[in-house]
Amino acid sequence: MYLPKITDDIIYVGVNDRNINIFEKYIPVNNGVSYNSYLILDKKTCLLDTVDFSGVRDFIENVKMALDGRKLDYLVVHHMEPDHCASIEELLLRCPDVTIVSNAQVFKMIDQFFNIKYKKLIVKENDILDLGNHQLKFISAPFVHWPEVMFSYDLTSKILFSADAFGSFGALSGNLFYDEVNDESYLSEARRYYSNIVGKYGQNVQNAFKKVSNLEISMICPLHGYLWRENFDIIIQKYMKWSLYEAEDRNVVIVYASMYGNTEKAANILAYKLASKGVKNIKIYDISITNETYIISEIFRASHLVIASPTYNMGIYPKTKELLDAMIRLNVKNRYIGLIENSTWAAFSNKLILEELNKLQGINVFEQKPSLKSSVKVIDEASLQSLADEIVSSL
Ligand SMILES: Cc1cc2nc3c(=O)[nH]c(=O)nc-3n(C[C@H](O)[C@H](O)[C@H](O)COP(=O)(O)O)c2cc1C
Ligand SMILES: [Fe+2]
Ligand SMILES: [Fe+2]
Repeated sequence: MYLPKITDDIIYVGVNDRNINIFEKYIPVNNGVSYNSYLILDKKTCLLDTVDFSGVRDFIENVKMALDGRKLDYLVVHHMEPDHCASIEELLLRCPDVTIVSNAQVFKMIDQFFNIKYKKLIVKENDILDLGNHQLKFISAPFVHWPEVMFSYDLTSKILFSADAFGSFGALSGNLFYDEVNDESYLSEARRYYSNIVGKYGQNVQNAFKKVSNLEISMICPLHGYLWRENFDIIIQKYMKWSLYEAEDRNVVIVYASMYGNTEKAANILAYKLASKGVKNIKIYDISITNETYIISEIFRASHLVIASPTYNMGIYPKTKELLDAMIRLNVKNRYIGLIENSTWAAFSNKLILEELNKLQGINVFEQKPSLKSSVKVIDEASLQSLADEIVSSL
């Protein structure tokens, strides 16, 4: 059998989707995604979650192979988003006697998504499912990332099955554990996954953390991406920062919208001014070119954001408005923000963007808000310089 074992009696039966370009038809992915699933082979056999429908064929094959002729006793459902639950019906067709184990809210959702009959065992917080040797304890984790989500903790192996938490985009390539790859670019993808998918629910992530903080954990097994063992504080430290809306790095991300290049020029000038004062690792993104999910991830990473944007039909430039909407939707907090606007007959951008930013908590907007008239003139250098000075003194 080629399926990897994560312990002597727990087999990885997940699948990879490398055909997917856009997760949730909204978030671009360039290296696919994995849908993780685990089978515990104890006195009772227990499958932990299923996979997206795109992977159902491989998944059913994996489960059959791992069961090796045994019958499946339990299916634990931690999360009812279809990237994990879509194959439940197919599984039930193969294993009609399986008992689905989950909380009441999950069962309500199963009956909404499917029209199927099944055996069920309803569990609550701290209930234990005894599999013989392994004992799974259930921990509710509402809104990490849907309301019905729960984790389970195996009292025997000390593994935390963490649903979407600690997951990321990116298909797995043989190695299941992050410590087998130690690839920092994966952490950027984990940030993009977290910020765009779970970002809004930092408080809920904190609440779930409190519940598991006293547990002795040997391994964290999420529903996407690498599994974590030895050095899982790498990902825990990141999650701490992200869920508390604390920046990882004290540096500056400049995003601009620019139809004809004038606002872009102001962004470049500001960056040169910052660099000349010793600011390192400045990043500039064109809102219309770089997909918003990457910019959101950068905003979660960095302490300082500058938005440079033209007035557009007396309003906010559409792509800038989309980014602001995403920041509000994802609950961005605690950032320093600089504003630069451009207009040719009536300036509205800075004022309207400020109104949007006022919907966020813990935002410090710099006093100096350069307002260009069509192009960057010598006279604008002074306001760009003052903004740069304010940024530098707050870094
Ligand atoms: C479709 C469109 C709508 C615009 N609406 C406004 C406006 O309401 N008020 C204004 O002052 N300028 C408006 N402008 C002008 C731009 O804000 C101005 O040309 C600015 O210089 C554009 O900067 P850019 O060179 O970075 O694209 C508009 C331009 C376009 C193309
Ligand atoms: Fe999810
Ligand atoms: Fe998911």
